[in-house]
Amino acid sequence: MIEVRVPGDKSISQRALLLATLAEGESRLRGLLPSADPRSTAAALRAAGARIPELPNDGSEIRVQGRGLRGLRTPSAPLDLGNSGTGTRLLLGVLAGQPLSAVVDGDASLRSRPMARVTNPLAQMGARFSWLGDEGRLPVRVDGGALAAFDYDLPVASAQVKSALLLAGLVGGVPVGLTEPGASRDHTERMLRGCGASVITHVRGPGRRIELRDPPPSLRPLDVDVPGDLSSAAFVLLACALGVTPGAVAIEGVGLNPTRDGIVDLFRRMGLRVEVVPGPDAAGEPVGRIEVGREALRAISVSEADVPTAIDELPALAVAAVRAEGVTRIRGARELRVKETDRIRALVVNLRAVGVEVAEHDDGLDVTGTTAALRGAVDAFDDHRIAMAFGVLAAAPGNTIEVSGKESVEVSFPGFWSLLERLRDG
Ligand code: S3P
Repeated sequence: MIEVRVPGDKSISQRALLLATLAEGESRLRGLLPSADPRSTAAALRAAGARIPELPNDGSEIRVQGRGLRGLRTPSAPLDLGNSGTGTRLLLGVLAGQPLSAVVDGDASLRSRPMARVTNPLAQMGARFSWLGDEGRLPVRVDGGALAAFDYDLPVASAQVKSALLLAGLVGGVPVGLTEPGASRDHTERMLRGCGASVITHVRGPGRRIELRDPPPSLRPLDVDVPGDLSSAAFVLLACALGVTPGAVAIEGVGLNPTRDGIVDLFRRMGLRVEVVPGPDAAGEPVGRIEVGREALRAISVSEADVPTAIDELPALAVAAVRAEGVTRIRGARELRVKETDRIRALVVNLRAVGVEVAEHDDGLDVTGTTAALRGAVDAFDDHRIAMAFGVLAAAPGNTIEVSGKESVEVSFPGFWSLLERLRDG
C-alpha cells in the first residue's frame, strides 16, 4: 500500500486566516495550505492591516496577531486576490462591515466570475459597491460601515455567499438569518463556533436555515491543525481508479466534513473500493484516513441532490467516467460553469480532444466510457482542478496526452506533479 498525504484544506485555510485576523489576541495555525490562493488572501489581509507572517511551505505553525472585529484599515492599493474566489467573496463580507474603502481585484479568471451574488445581499445590509469595470465583475470598490440585521433566502447553495453574509453580520455586530436550498459546506459555521460565536443550523429538507443570533463583541483566537484537503485527495482516488498506481493507496489526515465528502460515495457507486477510518477531529472538523483500492468501474448517474457535497470533485468524477463501463450522466451542476473556468465546457472540450464521446448539457455532461488508448492535447483553462484531472488521465496506462497549463495546480496543490509521479512509480 502506498502511503501519501495531501496539503491542507483550501477552504479551511482561508477561513482560518480571516478569523485569526478578526479575533482578539494571538492565533496559532498549523497545516495551512501553502499555495497561491491562501497566499493571495493573506497578502490582501496584510495590505488592510492584518499581521500575518509568510505561510511556510512545510505547513509549520504560524502565529497571527488578531486586529479585532473592526480593526482593518483602508489599504493604499487595490487588493489583488489572484485566482481566489473564496478569498474574494469572504473578504467582501468582512470589508462590508469595516469603516474603510477598498478596491478588490483578481486575475483574468476571477474577473470573469459573478460577484453580484455576494454584493447584492451585502448592499441590502448597508455596504456600498462600485463596479470599476463590467457590472457585477471585479474590480469593485467597497465602502464599508454600519450594517443592518438581515434575513435572506440564498438563490443557490453557496458556502462563499453564506460565509460572506455571516462574516458581515459578525463584523457589523448584527444578527443574520439565512435559508439555503441545499447544504453547502459548513466550515465557517464550525470555525465561528470554535471562536465563541453562536451559529445555529436547522435542517430544512435538502436545505438549511442558518442563524447568527447574538454576534459576540469579540472572537476568541484560534488554535487549529488544518486537515488535508479532500478535494486534493480526490485526485489520488482518481489515480487509483484509472490504474495510475500499481496497487492500493492510503491517504492520512484528510478532512471528512459531511458537507464535503460526496465524492467518497460517488466513487463507491462507480465500484471503487474506498474505506474510511475515522481519526480524532481537528479544527472542529472530522478527519480520517482514506484507503482506496482499484476495481472495475461502472457508469453512474449524478443528480442535483448529489452535487452540493461533491461540486469541486465533479471534474475528477467526469474523468473517472472515461474508464467506466456505460454512460455516466452528471446533471444539476450548472454551478460548474462559474468556477475557476466553465468546467462543463473545459471537460467537454478536453475529453473530445482525446477521443472520448461526450455530450454537453446546460447543467452537466454525459461521458461514454471506453477502453481505447487515448491520444491528444488538452488545456488546463487556467483551472487547477482541470489540470489535475487531465494530468491523472495522462498518467494512466496506455494514454499519450499532453497537458498544457500545468502550473495552474499551484492554486491548491503545490507538489501535485511530483506526487503523481510517486503514485505512478509505486
Ligand atoms: C468554497 C465554496 C464552493 C466551492 C469552492 C470553495 C468555499 O463555492 O466550489 O471551491 O471555500 O466556501 P460556492 O460557494 O460558489 O458554491
